[in-house]
Amino acid sequence: MRIVLLGAPGSGKGTQGEKLVARFGIPKVSTGDALRAAVNEGTALGKRAKAAMDAGELVANEIVIDIVDERLQQPDARKGFILDGFPRNTAQAETLDGMLQRMGSGGITHALHLHVNDEEIVSRLLERAKIEGRADDKEDVIRNRIAVYNAETAPLIAYYKAQGVAHTVDGMGSLEEIFERLAAVLTA
Ligand code: AP5
Repeated sequence: MRIVLLGAPGSGKGTQGEKLVARFGIPKVSTGDALRAAVNEGTALGKRAKAAMDAGELVANEIVIDIVDERLQQPDARKGFILDGFPRNTAQAETLDGMLQRMGSGGITHALHLHVNDEEIVSRLLERAKIEGRADDKEDVIRNRIAVYNAETAPLIAYYKAQGVAHTVDGMGSLEEIFERLAAVLTA
């Protein structure tokens, strides 16, 4: 399985992605986690990405494409992978398709779109802010991240529909309920 997780900030991509790793035994690649690690380590890449991340804007395509390209070439990704937070715009999706073609691994098999309403998103992320203090979990930045998602990333649902691999799943409810909805799609 070569899975893309789509969904607004706070829709549960990271949380459900971890559960999918445990159930299906394939690695998860999160561009957001990789970028936050680079920012925390103060690398050149992290310094380039930080301002856009703090503002809730997308970082430059070439930065995230390099991260994903390198990671998907690792041996453990040959049996499949779960992409969390990538692709985030049409250019990234087209580059990913080209990457997979070059690797001879076949295209994306499932684009799972977690649907959650905006007020639930804001409430989840403000709750996380109290515990984790992520720099972009501030209400004005959260609302900008939602706007960027709607403008740049939501069109990928149609992109993957055209490939016959898109599935929208209700992202409201308990972690277990949502996970079983996703697992049902993957085992159908
Ligand atoms: P990224 O790290 O990808 O952040 P995001 O998309 O905003 O996603 P989140 O991590 O906030 O949410 P999630 O959907 O993973 O939900 P989670 O499971 O964590 O990206 C951050 C930034 O990096 C971007 O803004 C951009 O600048 C940059 N970036 C990353 N990738 C990029 C790319 N490809 N191109 C360009 N720029 C890129 O859950 C959220 C919270 O809700 C948690 O506290 C969780 O415990 C809670 N929760 C989850 N599910 C439930 C539930 N069912 N009920 C109640 N609470 C729940």
